[in-house]
Amino acid sequence: MSRELVQKQFGDNAENYVSSQVHAQGASLKEMVRLADPQPGWLALDVAPGGGHSALAIARHVRQVVAVDITFPMLQAARDFTRSQGQENIVWVQGNGGRLPFGAERFDLITCRVALHHFPRQAAAIADWARCLKPGGRLVLVDNVGPKDPVANDYINTFEKLRDPSHGRVHSPAQLARFIKDAGLILLSAATLRKPMLFHPWMTRMSVPKTDRATLTRMLWESDGSARAFLNPQGEGEKTTFDLQEGLFLAHKPEQ
Ligand SMILES: C[S@@+](CC[C@H](N)C(=O)[O-])C[C@H]1O[C@@H](n2cnc3c(N)ncnc32)[C@H](O)[C@@H]1O
Repeated sequence: MSRELVQKQFGDNAENYVSSQVHAQGASLKEMVRLADPQPGWLALDVAPGGGHSALAIARHVRQVVAVDITFPMLQAARDFTRSQGQENIVWVQGNGGRLPFGAERFDLITCRVALHHFPRQAAAIADWARCLKPGGRLVLVDNVGPKDPVANDYINTFEKLRDPSHGRVHSPAQLARFIKDAGLILLSAATLRKPMLFHPWMTRMSVPKTDRATLTRMLWESDGSARAFLNPQGEGEKTTFDLQEGLFLAHKPEQ
């Protein structure tokens, strides 16, 4: 969960995120753009752009996107990828998305997709985003969420952390909604999406070693109760799938 762990995990696997179909084409990418309703004159901020798919999707609709990621090789990979797509209106900044290096009330839109669960202080990060939004500005937060049941929630977080040591914590949708409201933003909508994942590519994306792959396989199939219902494992061998869930939140900053 430390900055160094995130930089190591994502630095070593940057290209895997550029080529990841889950990130390039996941249903939440389209939904993020729909919720953001980006306008041509806007200055947008994409926090933690990873392989660049979220920044690219917004950049196609706005004047400029500033993209802040903590991992330098990730920024390089994302910049090369988005340029190869002909998108030149993205400014890449290395920085901590939980403590933004920007003044107050700068951005019309802030997006963050599938990254907040790596942040050590999630509530503080959202409060900082609220600071940087213009009055009336929008936040679209998309992130993995966990079950409400605390035992099942711990199980999912242990499972995720074994696959990716830089995993921080997934919260329930209700907890993320609370963080957004506590930041002084008005929550306009909240939804969850089931995200079916291919189990083996999910592990390969983070270069999981053989012994941990065996433990993850056991954890997947030996899960029970709410954790089992959440993970919903299916199939076998290379065709094994399981579910993650994403929460999608739209909020805005009050005018006054
Ligand atoms: C899964 S990727 C993001 C995917 C991307 N937003 C998309 O929609 O395709 C997660 C990213 O979060 C970044 N990250 C993690 N903690 C961060 C922090 N505190 N500040 C900025 N970036 C961070 C990692 O470096 C990594 O690039």
